[in-house]
Amino acid sequence: MGEYVSVADAASLAPGRGRTVNVRGREFALFNMDGRFYALDNECPHVGGPLGAGTLEDGCVHCPLHGWGFDVKTGACRKVPARPVRSYPVRVEGGQVQIKI
Ligand code: FES
Repeated sequence: MGEYVSVADAASLAPGRGRTVNVRGREFALFNMDGRFYALDNECPHVGGPLGAGTLEDGCVHCPLHGWGFDVKTGACRKVPARPVRSYPVRVEGGQVQIKI
């Protein structure tokens, strides 16, 4: 089932940017792509790079360690399709970005 949990002030994350957020002992990568928010597991399935610190380009976040690219909407890996990351539903309520976990 899951529940939506507030993770950030929507105004604090500009379009084209990402960051790592901590929720209940877990890390998620949160992105603002053209004003819409998306969340993935923060840990890159290659060797654990922090995806929240990656760079966004063409709907894809590039891991800061070795550059694997992941679709920010789905978590699909463009480098190694068999190694996706999990994506999570996101909504904005009262100016707060919320992730369903
Ligand atoms: S740890 Fe992400 S590409 Fe290597």
